[in-house]
Amino acid sequence: MQEINIPTKLYSYKQLTELPLPIQNLMNQAVAARLKAYAPYSNFQVGAAILLKNGTIVLGSNQENAAYPSGLCAERTAVFSAGANFPNEQIIAICISASSTLKDTLEPIPPCGACRQSLLEYENKQKNNIPIYFMGKAGEIIQSPSVKNLLPFTFREESL
Ligand code: THU
Repeated sequence: MQEINIPTKLYSYKQLTELPLPIQNLMNQAVAARLKAYAPYSNFQVGAAILLKNGTIVLGSNQENAAYPSGLCAERTAVFSAGANFPNEQIIAICISASSTLKDTLEPIPPCGACRQSLLEYENKQKNNIPIYFMGKAGEIIQSPSVKNLLPFTFREESL
């Protein structure tokens, strides 16, 4: 038996002003997107903002459905929109903000596994890391330097 260690590095920022201005702006856009979430079932609103190399910011929010699995997370709404509308444009960074109308979400809320898998596809496609920044309603922000850092030992196209 041999132990395999896959290190993951995350960076914590106490407040938004510690981050570079373009990332502060991107997170503010994620907060604005969050306010447009359609989440009548979970009461949990998520906003995602994706910065493209050409300067465009693509927004997404979670969109729920009475048939629960038919809804979609904010991160995938945003990244599929970026992929559909700007297929050849590199993704520079993604910011995510989540909140609940039922309780305080002042700790960073990381993207779910399915969103990590979807985001990883675009990171692999563009052959450049996509830094991810995520936070709750306010307060601490966590940065992951890449998607694969959040999803080690992944299923990839090479496996097919
Ligand atoms: N949600 C997201 O938008 N992103 C995630 O990474 C996790 C969960 C949404 C889906 C659903 O509308 C609500 O949050 C509760 O799970």
